[in-house]
Amino acid sequence: MGLSPRGSVPLRPGDLIQFKHDGRPIAMLTAWDALSAALVEAAGADVVLVGDSLAMVVLGHATTLPVTLEEMLQHCRAVGRGLGRPPARQPLLVCDLPFLSYQCGLDGAVAAAGAVLKLSPAAAVKLEGGEPETVAVVDRLVRSGIPVMAHLGLTPQSVHRLGYRRQATDPVSQERLRRAALNLEAAGSFALVLEHVPADLAASLRRELAIPVIGIGAGDDCDGQVRVTADLLGLTERQPPFCPPLLAGRSLAIEALGGWVTGLAASTDPISPPDQPPDQPSEQVPEQVPN
Ligand code: KIV
Repeated sequence: MGLSPRGSVPLRPGDLIQFKHDGRPIAMLTAWDALSAALVEAAGADVVLVGDSLAMVVLGHATTLPVTLEEMLQHCRAVGRGLGRPPARQPLLVCDLPFLSYQCGLDGAVAAAGAVLKLSPAAAVKLEGGEPETVAVVDRLVRSGIPVMAHLGLTPQSVHRLGYRRQATDPVSQERLRRAALNLEAAGSFALVLEHVPADLAASLRRELAIPVIGIGAGDDCDGQVRVTADLLGLTERQPPFCPPLLAGRSLAIEALGGWVTGLAASTDPISPPDQPPDQPSEQVPEQVPN
């Protein structure tokens, strides 16, 4: 296991499987730049995810679909620059593969995931879905040396097909999800994110799988939990129902900044406006040199 450029030893995907076997809960948080990365690392996150939720949270898109691989790489590099302050053990850095970067053939998927590992400090990728084509992608990436975190349940890249509803609510879809999870594990995924599914389904899958199940809106009986950091801090305008904020970050920030702005306006020492514009430097007319 090599040292990071700043001297601390980063966690590896295999460490998460060991955490599961040791019964140690895994804490995973998203980050999108150096500032948020330093915060979540200082908070002790085991895994930092550069999630494609940044398309909505940071880039202002209505869904996660528009974000490009180039943009994900740029954010991932910024996150990497915010990590690695010794003596903390550096978290595992995982980057989401964006929509259509891995759905257009196995070679394209290797190229996209390979770019993440070559051109950013991420040590693993995450991708959504459990259809046979996606399982084949996982198999190919893992065989190419690229660690893969899987993601089932509410998969925002499929919003136009599945919406943002809770998933796997009936026995047929629960069995489908269970099969997909087993296939993703067999293909070599090192962890599975389960988003917005019934808690008893997550709890039973956690027992069935050897890899860790990391939940979000999937109940407490998981091997770990993941949250979008901006949601947890209450910074976003709309929160998902399954991610209550820890603090009212948005109103606290607006209140503090608003206090500064009004304080400035009410300052007792107003800056007097200049009577006339500052002197313009006079144009130098070069002296005529006689011929
Ligand atoms: O993009 C993201 O932030 C995610 C988490 C919700 C797991 O995929």
